[in-house]
Amino acid sequence: MIVNMKDMLNKAKKGKYAVPQFNINNLEWTKYILEECQKNNSPVILGVSEGAIKYIGGYSVVVSLIKELVKELKITIPVAIHLDHGTSIDSCIKAINAGFTSVMLDASKEILDENIKLTKEIMRYASKFKVTVEAEIGHIGGTEDNVTSNIMFAKVDESIRFTKETKVDFLAPALGSVHGLYKGEPNLDFKRMLEISIKTSTPLVLHGGTGIPDDKIREAISCGIVKININTELQIVWSNAVKMYLSNNPMVYDPRKIIGSGEMAIKETVRQKIILLGSENQA
Ligand code: 13P
Repeated sequence: MIVNMKDMLNKAKKGKYAVPQFNINNLEWTKYILEECQKNNSPVILGVSEGAIKYIGGYSVVVSLIKELVKELKITIPVAIHLDHGTSIDSCIKAINAGFTSVMLDASKEILDENIKLTKEIMRYASKFKVTVEAEIGHIGGTEDNVTSNIMFAKVDESIRFTKETKVDFLAPALGSVHGLYKGEPNLDFKRMLEISIKTSTPLVLHGGTGIPDDKIREAISCGIVKININTELQIVWSNAVKMYLSNNPMVYDPRKIIGSGEMAIKETVRQKIILLGSENQA
């Protein structure tokens, strides 16, 4: 069942668990993630970056790929097709027109007034299609899709103003998490997370899910996080499995065997995250 993120994340907020966003890169990953989430009866958000969209072949190819897999694999859990870090209004509109059910407009590099203005603009467009919108405030650091940025913590007063003026569906406040690998222990500001959650009454999103210890993930959920994004960890477990397979089977050249040798690693990680986030049997 293809849905937007509204009901699944409101339900998660009430139930005090989080829904995983797994980023997809190709047909195989999409299939593995859908199958494992269905097996565990967990709702799922398939996050697609602009880089992945280009790699897969375009916005509408992504939507067709997911819709056809959902149909053929008889997937009945709620599945959201979400643009991850849309860099412009134009990109979000392309995603919405192609059938994405949710978009993130990441205007966090802009000054606050401009971020508010752009978010309001995409909210107006998205609401006509019942597409949900996520925005970022402050700045999540680290490296994603070869783009590196510095961390800047979200401020409570700015988060309140932002959500009040934009009425955005979901907010990703930067509070110490980074994309990619952490240098040392992640240092998340849970006190501010809880304050932003209470004072904005908006469901919150945690980016940079890779490398955050399990106890900190649980604490984040108790502070109002309802969606956790995981990308790098799947890439690492998949590529490690494939490297191992190739070193044990150097004569293999069938791409299905090579790509497929990472299937169990992806599925095992997806299952672990579902259990950690508490989304098992919440479909
Ligand atoms: P990681 O790559 O650190 O898991 O972060 C994913 C993410 O936040 C996607 O938006």
